[in-house]
Amino acid sequence: MDNALVTCENLVKIYTATDLEVVALQGLDLEIAPGEMVALVGASGSGKTTLLNLLGALDSPSAGRCIVAGNDLTRINDLQRTNYRCFTAGHVWQQSGRNLLPELSVAENIALPQMLGGANAKARSARTRDLMARTDIERLAEKKPNQISGGEQQRAAICVALANAPALLLADEPTGELDSTTAGEVLDLLRELNRELGLTILIVTHDVTVASGADRTIAIRDGRTSTETVRRDAPLAAAGIGSAAGAASAVIGLPSQTHRESILIDRVGRLQLPHEALTRVAFNGRADVRILDDHVEIWPEEGAAEGLAAPSAAIPVAPTYPAAAANYPAPIQEEN
Ligand SMILES: Nc1ncnc2c1ncn2[C@@H]1O[C@H](COP(=O)(O)OP(=O)(O)OP(=O)(O)O)[C@@H](O)[C@H]1O
Ligand SMILES: [Mg+2]
Repeated sequence: MDNALVTCENLVKIYTATDLEVVALQGLDLEIAPGEMVALVGASGSGKTTLLNLLGALDSPSAGRCIVAGNDLTRINDLQRTNYRCFTAGHVWQQSGRNLLPELSVAENIALPQMLGGANAKARSARTRDLMARTDIERLAEKKPNQISGGEQQRAAICVALANAPALLLADEPTGELDSTTAGEVLDLLRELNRELGLTILIVTHDVTVASGADRTIAIRDGRTSTETVRRDAPLAAAGIGSAAGAASAVIGLPSQTHRESILIDRVGRLQLPHEALTRVAFNGRADVRILDDHVEIWPEEGAAEGLAAPSAAIPVAPTYPAAAANYPAPIQEEN
């Protein structure tokens, strides 16, 4: 991607606590284009918050490259870091208590980052009113955070994060503490801001509905990106893609008619097979790889598992992936 807003290459984050080291990110690659809304999913402890903290310059990478809007986050100094947090990346947290100062009103909360950013009183008040109007919380301007609902607090938190018009909004499970209706409304709002302002959004979520609303969903496993699910421009017709019709994507669980899931392959060729592939096919730590003209097949090693010895009897990985099933011919099976 030539014009990526976010580029992470081989990103590593190691936490060191007394005598223990935790490798939270282990060579993660990621690119996000300007204006994209990307969802980030993954099991607890897979490194999602760690990645957001690095992209928000709240923490520093241990190794690798991490560039956001031209800022190299591996080498910025303290002043650049302060400016970056103020103007380039906004953060929304799951816990509303972390987003808003309880002693300030909603409007004062939104004005504060602008004051720190050097905006004058007139500009602050205009920007604060505009953000409250966009997020439909004008009537709450004078309320304190504890006088408004959880959904309203998250709307206010989004305004605070956008106060200085950052290019990137990082949201760590922003709807995690909301009921599903309110969560849906906050999500619709993020989508609207993404479209209207061209705002780039990276949103961590456990919720498939949130993922289905994003342009792209990245699954992260053990500190590395593993698969990516992209919404199809035109939904597939139910007929015509054989056994894949009606199936859900292997990792995210979105319908294959509307979403296409791909495994990500890094620069040195590493990929992570989805858990489902490992449970359905007995690889036992090894695979036969067959490189054909236009595709690669991964089979359990011959004799690796009882009943799966002959390729014709094995379950190929391909049918799990609608795109592969649709684009590539089925493995040729010799008649005998
Ligand atoms: N400050 C820290 N010190 C030491 N280890 C940490 C620290 N923060 C996170 N970790 C570890 O790094 C790994 C990734 O944690 P992270 O918080 O990024 O996961 P996550 O994907 O956000 O999980 P969750 O879905 O539960 O929020 C975990 O093993 C975690 O225990
Ligand atoms: Mg987290």
